[in-house]
Order: sequence, then structure tokens, then C-alpha cells
Amino acid sequence: MILVMDFGGQYSQLIARRIRECGVYCEIVPFNTSIDKIRQMAPKGIVFSGGPSSVYGEGAPKCDPQVFEINLPVLGICYGMQLTAYTLGGKVAHASSREYGNTRLYIDKTTGVFAEINPETQVWMSHGDYIAEPPAGFDITAHTNSTPVAAMENNERRLYGVQFHPEVVHTPEGMKMLRNFLFNICGCIGDWNMGSFVDQAVAKIKSQVGDKRVLCALSGGVDSSVAAVLVHRAVGEQLTCVFVNHGFLRKGEAEQVVKTFRDGFKMNLVYVDAVERFMNRLRGVTDPEQKRKLIGEEFIRVFEAEAAKLGNIDFLVQGTLYPDVIESGTATAAVIKSHHNVGGLPEDMKFELVEPLRDLFKDEVRALGREINLPEDIVWRQPFPGPGLAIRIIGEITEERLEILREADAIVYQEIKIAGLYRKVWQSFAVLPAMKSVGVMGDERTYAYTIGLRIVESEDGMTADWVRLPYEVLDTISRRIVNEVKGVNRIVYDITSKPPSTIEWE
Ligand code: XMP
Repeated sequence: MILVMDFGGQYSQLIARRIRECGVYCEIVPFNTSIDKIRQMAPKGIVFSGGPSSVYGEGAPKCDPQVFEINLPVLGICYGMQLTAYTLGGKVAHASSREYGNTRLYIDKTTGVFAEINPETQVWMSHGDYIAEPPAGFDITAHTNSTPVAAMENNERRLYGVQFHPEVVHTPEGMKMLRNFLFNICGCIGDWNMGSFVDQAVAKIKSQVGDKRVLCALSGGVDSSVAAVLVHRAVGEQLTCVFVNHGFLRKGEAEQVVKTFRDGFKMNLVYVDAVERFMNRLRGVTDPEQKRKLIGEEFIRVFEAEAAKLGNIDFLVQGTLYPDVIESGTATAAVIKSHHNVGGLPEDMKFELVEPLRDLFKDEVRALGREINLPEDIVWRQPFPGPGLAIRIIGEITEERLEILREADAIVYQEIKIAGLYRKVWQSFAVLPAMKSVGVMGDERTYAYTIGLRIVESEDGMTADWVRLPYEVLDTISRRIVNEVKGVNRIVYDITSKPPSTIEWE
């Protein structure tokens, strides 16, 4: 096991993820973890993350200097290397300008983490301070044009530092360097995998929950599904899942969730049919934010009522992923749309959270989903907004419009799957603007709805581009929707990126 000591860097989780990719189990611990605790955890090595501080800054995070005395290999990254240098008597200085972005690294000594690395290689830098002089006993192992000590090592004591970020993709040989540290220096084996993650997560949930009861708001998305199945494995009957059908789900979705979890996994599943209730609340509402707000509020009410019926519950499962943790931590980000997460915690409900996916990235959750035998349809499900089809009908929501959109959307889903694109694109769906136009069908004038197609590629939903779909696929989708869905006579393709548009239309 490897410990990642977190000094507040934005890449701490990414470091952990890279280590997991090497098949090595790792845990992230705060920078001030005590030596006793570290000894008790018995890691094979420690990685210091980067961080925004300067070692000279007031309140700069510092670890117990004893960390360097317990005969464990340490790899300091960015701030982590500066702290190593500072603690062991080297010189850290403020640079007149930051070194940022792609940088050429010249390797002076191809030992330690640089074993079999090209003597000239590209790395990603992001730092203000730099090391002017390494501590006694350390060799300079690499430099750049503006950083004299871009890497250092004390091979005898197995202490290493790199000023750049080996964990990001912009450092092409970064994984090789991490592997050198993990396997050559720390002696890790690399036999950890998602199966071991399941065992560890299940044990952790068991010890957190004990014999108490747990509630889970299941949405049918991959995150809440994986989280629910893990918790079910850990505590079985103590878990109750609540699935609220608000009426804005896609075709067949509600049935699939019930079938998978109640029949397949044999879980306690409370299915709440709130279709009419939501529809009544939303009738006549056209403002996008108003729709989101009402659905969010109503969802919480329904959920609370169900929780009250169940009685004493102490824990709530949330499928929070690591990127959600970062996002909710950025208080400065402007609210573009108020996101509503089905399963979002009602503020005044007093539950302790069970969040087994908190450290994982989306693709790791998918790998985990496969490991625990979730159906492919759920494992590969594209993101779907909490308010569902309600925010894909632009204008007032009516039963007729919902029905039309649901049918059109099902055709988009089928054709994108047939074309082998479903897993490749970020999202592919239909929208229904409450707008009619004139058409002609079988010599007759029609006056019917337009369906918009939104098919985008994206890494994380923050930015996106429209997919250059083959014309034949567009053509098939267009023909099928107009022929098969009554009430539609025109199809348009949304060719805007995000920004300036957003992925959803509302
Ligand atoms: P936008 O439309 O803001 O969407 O570009 C970015 C991503 O977020 C999804 N989305 C939501 N997800 N609750 C969610 O859980 C919401 O209220 C919500 N609104 C948008 C959207 O589908 C896209 O993947």
C-alpha cells in the first residue's frame, strides 16, 4: 500500500488514481497524519502531493519531519518536493515568474524515478517557488531552462523529488516514472484491482454502518446504482432503496430499474409513482430555473415522506464521485444552472452519509460496475439530468409533449447504439421545443412539432462539442422519428459547442 499525503493540491486524487492504475492500492491521508498512524498503516512508500502554498507562507502545510526518518521511500511532487528540500536543509526560493505548462526536462541522472526515461522529455510544470539548492546528500537529477533543480534524489535514503507533475497526461513519461517509484523503489507488486476495491469498500461500509439502517435514493444512473449494490453487499436487508418516478424518465427506464434491483439483485426497493403529483406541480410552468426548482423541492418532499414511513434510518447512501467533490468545493464558480441531483441530500434531514465512490473517477466507477455484475445498460448509461425530460421540453410540459419526446428519444438511443456510437459520445438525446412548423405529408399539410437532436462529445460535461455524425445516421434518425412518432414533422441538429451553448437546452 502507498500513502498519498495531501498538501492541498488539485491533483492529489489524480495521483491516487494513477497509482491504482498501476495495480497498487493507495490511500490519501492529510499532510499532518501522525507518525504513529503512518506506522500503523504500514505503507511501502509515501507520495507527497503538490499544493498551492509556499513553504515560507503563513500556515503552510507541513508534515512531521520524522516522516523522513522512518526508512520509507518518499516521492515529493511539486510543493511536496519543495517541502522535502526545505525540511532537510535545502534552499527554496521565490521565482520572479511562474513556470507553467509544457516544459522540456533535461535529465542529468537516469537513476531512481528516471530509470529508462528519455534524457530529454516533456513534463507539465506549475509552480512559483523553486529549489535553489538541494539538501546535503541529494543529487540534482534533472533541470529545465528556468529551473536548476527540476528533480533531485537521495538514492541511499530513497528520497526523491520532482518539481513537475508526473500524474497528468501532459507528462507523457509520467506513468513510467511513477512505476519506477512504485515497483523499483518501493517494491510494490501491482496485483491490486477493482475486485480488491469491492472487498475493501464492503468492509469499510460494514464497519461504518454496523447494524443500523441505510436509505438510498436510486436514480438508475451508474453512480447511485454502483453505490447501492456495494452497500447491499455489505449490509443486505439493512438497506432500503427508494426510486421516485417523477414522470420525466425515458422510455422503459422505470421498469428497468425495478427489474434490475428488485428482481435481479433482490434488494428492498420502494417504487414511488409520483407521476401525477409532479405533473400537477409543473403544469403551466415554462421558466427553466422554475422547473428545476420545483422538481428539486418536490423530489425532496416525496423522498422525505417515504423516509418517514420507513422509520428509524441513520445513514444515506450517495453516489458522490471525486469530481463532484471538487466541484462542490469551488464556491466561486458561477451558477449557470441549478443542478438537481436525484438523491441530493435534503438540508434538514439528519443522516450520516455513506459515500463509497468518493475517491473514484467516472471510468473507475464503470469498471467497478462491471466487477459487481451490473447490466451493461446501466454501466454505460450516459449522464441524465435529475429533472429529466422536463428540461428537454422547452416551454410548458404536457402529457402529449412528454410522450412525443419519449418516443423520439428512444429512436435516437436505438440508432446511436446501432451505429456503435453510444459509448463513444458523451450524450445523445432529443429535445422538444414547444414550437410547431408547417410540413407536408401524403399531400396533406401538417402543422407539428420540431425535434432537436443533441449529440455531443465531452470529457467531463464542462465543455463539449457537437459530434460530426455521419449523414446516414442523421438521415435514419430523422426519417424514423418523422415516420414513427405522431406529431413531429421536422428534425434539426444542434451544431453548437459548449460554451457558448450548454449541453441541455434548459
Ligand atoms: P449543461 O446543460 O449545464 O450540462 O451543459 C452539463 C452536464 O450536466 C448534466 N446536467 C445535470 N445533471 N442534474 C444532474 O444530475 C441536473 O440538474 C443537470 N442539469 C444538467 C447534463 O446532462 C450534462 O451532462
